Amino acid sequence: MKKIAFYDTKPYDKIHFDRLNEQYGYEIIYFEGKLNARTAVLAHGMDAVVAFVNDNIDAAAVDALCRHGIGLLAMRSAGYNNVDIGAAKGRLKLVRVPDYSPYAIAEHTMALLLTLVRKIHKAYNRTREYNFLLNGLMGFDLHGKTIGVVGTGKIGRVFIDICKGFGMNVLAYDPYPSRDDVTYTDLETLCSRADIISLHCPLTKDTYHIINKENLALMKKGVYLINTSRGALIDSDALIDAIKQGIIGGAGLDVYEEESDFFYEDHSETIIQDDVLRLLVTMPNVLVTSHQAFLTNEALGQIAATTFENMDAYFNGKPLKNEIL
Ligand code: NAI
Repeated sequence: MKKIAFYDTKPYDKIHFDRLNEQYGYEIIYFEGKLNARTAVLAHGMDAVVAFVNDNIDAAAVDALCRHGIGLLAMRSAGYNNVDIGAAKGRLKLVRVPDYSPYAIAEHTMALLLTLVRKIHKAYNRTREYNFLLNGLMGFDLHGKTIGVVGTGKIGRVFIDICKGFGMNVLAYDPYPSRDDVTYTDLETLCSRADIISLHCPLTKDTYHIINKENLALMKKGVYLINTSRGALIDSDALIDAIKQGIIGGAGLDVYEEESDFFYEDHSETIIQDDVLRLLVTMPNVLVTSHQAFLTNEALGQIAATTFENMDAYFNGKPLKNEIL
């Protein structure tokens, strides 16, 4: 029986993996802790490792996995910026789930935007205290506004369709344009013309801090910024300055540069030492969710299905169609 080490386990992961494993019959050992150079030893004697977005799979962790005989690292995520690809190359097979539900992420993006624009987060708190005043809850119509979409891959494309349904004008930036029905432009023009900007590109060395002091300065006063991709696409210090200056009217953040120290854990009884995160969370026009855009029943079911297919292909010597090269 093949043994699988499963890191950063939450109850919602187990539901789908346990159900599907009835067909495959692997022995899955679930670890609550994250994978890193120290915890890799737990995978000793196993046949494959399943990891997620906030595991720290740097060169030292890859070395440790290889030392403990792991041949397959199966990411149960689309993004893999937390893996040292150079260190893994040629030493272990690396697979991912490139496409599970772009709808889950695109719909969460719109949920963040609508919540901020219509101040639903404030209204929710008010009415729970029987405060039925509307003062301070004025929003604006999305209809007729210009949305700037950075990255028009699977998720960006679904989000564009949602925005079109709202009657918004779409401007896009992507070095590899893929849609004929969207106006593409350069990033600077997008930043200066959009009323709302949403990020849907991967985190790479080219996109690190793609939203920075320089292009925040180009943006319209009061622009809304939504990030459901990866935290390090935005320079958080520059974002805070732009919020203080009123350039950013609202920010919806499902991801944060230093999220791996906090997200997916309960820190409600501790003093958060990260001043930037603490400040962002307290700002009335900032909404932070903890990397939950993927968290739908459909997405989790598909993540499990593809991860099992990836492992089955590896164990049976079939082509690895989702290999990260
Ligand atoms: P995709 O690979 O289908 O599309 C990415 C697009 O970004 C491509 O069209 C590509 O050409 C474009 N791109 C690459 N470099 C760029 C640059 N410098 N500037 C602008 N665009 C650039 O990926 P998909 O499935 O749409 O996912 C996008 C990202 O969403 C993932 O990389 C991941 O970081 C994030 N994600 C977040 C989740 C969450 O739960 N918050 C869940 C799943 C994905």
